[in-house]
Amino acid sequence: MIERRNKIVLSILISCLIGHTISAANDTINKSESIRDGETLVSSGGMFALGFFSLANSTNRYVGIWYNHIKPNTYVWLAHREAPLTTKSGALTLTDSGFLLLLDETNATVWSSSTTATTPQNPAVQLLDSGNLVVKDAENLLWQSFDHPTDTYLPGMMSLGWNLDTRVETYLSSWKSHDDPSPGDFTAHLDPTGYPQIIVRRGKTVKFRLGPWNGVRFSGSPGTRNNPTLNMNKNEVKYGEDNVDGSVIARLTLSLEGVGVRWIWNDQSKSWMTYNLEADACDNYNACGAYGVCSVGDSPICRCMDRFVHRDEGNLSLGCVARTALACEGDVFFKYSGMKLPDARNTTFDDRKMLPADCEAECLKNCSCTAYKQLDIREETSGCLFYYGELFDARTMAVGGDELYIRIASADLEKDAESKRRKRVKLVASLASMAATVLIFLVLILICVWKRKKDSNPYKEGQYSGSLGQEADLPFFSLPLILKATDNFSIDNKLGEGGFGPVYKGVLENGQEIAVKRLSKTSKQGVDELKNEVILIAKLQHRNLVRTLGCCADGEESMLIYEYMPNKSLDFILFDETKSMLLDWKKRFNIITGIAKGLLYLHQDSRLRIIHRDLKASNILLDAEMNPKISDFGLARSFGGNETQAQTSRVVGTYGYMSPEYAIDGMFSIKSDVFSFGVLVLEIVSGKRNRGFCHDDHNENSLNLLGYAWTLSKEGKSCELVDPCVGESFNLSEVLRSIQVGLLCVQRCQEDRPTMSTVVFMLGNQVELPEAKQPGFFAGRDVGGGRSYSSSNATNSENQLTITWSQGQGR
Ligand SMILES: *[C@@H]1O[C@H](CO)[C@@H](O)[C@H](O)[C@H]1NC(C)=O
Repeated sequence: MIERRNKIVLSILISCLIGHTISAANDTINKSESIRDGETLVSSGGMFALGFFSLANSTNRYVGIWYNHIKPNTYVWLAHREAPLTTKSGALTLTDSGFLLLLDETNATVWSSSTTATTPQNPAVQLLDSGNLVVKDAENLLWQSFDHPTDTYLPGMMSLGWNLDTRVETYLSSWKSHDDPSPGDFTAHLDPTGYPQIIVRRGKTVKFRLGPWNGVRFSGSPGTRNNPTLNMNKNEVKYGEDNVDGSVIARLTLSLEGVGVRWIWNDQSKSWMTYNLEADACDNYNACGAYGVCSVGDSPICRCMDRFVHRDEGNLSLGCVARTALACEGDVFFKYSGMKLPDARNTTFDDRKMLPADCEAECLKNCSCTAYKQLDIREETSGCLFYYGELFDARTMAVGGDELYIRIASADLEKDAESKRRKRVKLVASLASMAATVLIFLVLILICVWKRKKDSNPYKEGQYSGSLGQEADLPFFSLPLILKATDNFSIDNKLGEGGFGPVYKGVLENGQEIAVKRLSKTSKQGVDELKNEVILIAKLQHRNLVRTLGCCADGEESMLIYEYMPNKSLDFILFDETKSMLLDWKKRFNIITGIAKGLLYLHQDSRLRIIHRDLKASNILLDAEMNPKISDFGLARSFGGNETQAQTSRVVGTYGYMSPEYAIDGMFSIKSDVFSFGVLVLEIVSGKRNRGFCHDDHNENSLNLLGYAWTLSKEGKSCELVDPCVGESFNLSEVLRSIQVGLLCVQRCQEDRPTMSTVVFMLGNQVELPEAKQPGFFAGRDVGGGRSYSSSNATNSENQLTITWSQGQGR
């Protein structure tokens, strides 16, 4: 003790001279030594400190561990949670027999560690740079704080779960309140019942569940960025995570509300970024009852698994029952994918290596087996997991879902065949009605033309003199009216060049400003597209889509009239050095979310399912408040029903925004729009065009914007991507989320890209985002995966080059 005090006096002297803290080198308490209130241990690398402290509104004293350099103090571990010291005279001491004791002012023991060895040799306590406080002797680890976590999980702990020899469980429990660290209502467990899962409970009630383990991670968690590891043998079932990158300061806590929260320290902003593991209504345990599937994109969120029906349509949370009861003999299985697997507490597993067919045969042998899956998603042959009884708590996953084979009665399949027949009849009916629609449209065009001819005085009836009818309920503008409004299409009024003709500004007699898209007379292809656009846009109403005021058809001339957007198009502002200053981060984020919502409407919420196919900065218009409006549906295609993908022999789109499968194979789907959206997001964040972007610092091959953004993100330097014009003040969490969402959208494989509903959700919520793989079109000149394409510059203006690609070419 005396020696220790001298040491401290000496280090005070030294620290006065060189400015270090007294305990900079002290990470160890030796046998029979102690530290008192006011003294601290600091781990050798300076990451963590251990000592005495009080919490906000209390004078109680606790002993715990916190990050040495992060202010305010963040406590990752406490020795004793329930019986605080009431004075500043406590001491933490190590006994000869290797027990770590916390003594109060009367030298009574308030808390004690346990130990495994009976006669340890020279025990010592050391605070490690991982945040682990260990008691060890020459040979053995006697005790470690990592085996006794409080509400915080630190990377490297491999301890959550059960020691099967001693039947001792290690779990997290929440604090009672901000100034009372004693165990609150919530606990987080690795539950090995059936097959290992993570279960958060409030008291005895299950609140949230992740799992079961699928070989690489718990079903329902999107990624493996945290190196999830499950150790399962006859001695233990334990789960752990670790930092992939040691430079990241991360932790996971169970909050006061019982929500798992990931924390990552951002050293640039000196603040914690957080992600909630439990993010939406579908994460509430068993939200949809037996055989229900919860899906946040749906309204209501609960539906039944295929071939199951709601028990009570008025109360969906009561769950579902099989449409046809299982017969046991001769039942069949169908595959359900993209899901968080149901609760696996009522399961058994067989870990012999088997093929899916073997699992199926096994499951069929037992009439109460209702579903099966392979244990390890990495292997073709692996063990099988068998579910018994009703299936609970399944949900859809936007990314990283799992597959499950669910048992159904074979008699049910016959019902299916029946309904297919009925669907076919429906399809014929809808084709017939489609033909009728086209016919009506043609008739209306004729009426339009006829009316105009008849109408000798175009101004007689005011602004418009007819309508394209119910199908396309658009006012008709007369040509002379448009000529007057645009000053005979004066070059001064030209706003720009659209996909199939110039766009002019105009002012109507009542003072209303309009934009007129004039179809080039020579372009036959354009006429079709205008018609297409007319039909489509008449039905589309959304605050993030540009509003169409009417149309005009006069002999050779076809025009569309839009509301005028005073701030023109996004590219006009975003890529201009001075104008881009107008777009601070708040505006940019608003633009990103606005485009996402507009696109979601096109893909999903509008009555038709529409793929834009030419989403780019010049097709995003900005109103006076800089709200984004998607324009130019000339290339849009509409799909009835579930058809979301098609192939075209003519690729029309803009290089730099096109997805690989569209540019190379002519495959377009809602996921090709998602790709273009991702490019747009990265352009908005960086203020740089993807096309024409070149960055040589990182690689021998020059990187395009996508590759550059991905490389920065991998190196944890995403902030460098942000346009300097945004200025100093931006919401870092929004910036990082936007970049991550952008990168996920530009994944090479369509399956890896989220849908727009997921994008909207990810942008609007602090959820954990999956990891992005290398984007499609990574390097500057990587356009077509080695295949050739021909470009035609029939409509090229400065920043747009339309690629035409025919099937057969380049193959
Ligand atoms: C079916 O499986 C359940 C659950 O493992 C078990 O209790 C039951 O004995 C099995 N029945 C047969 C006939 O093997």
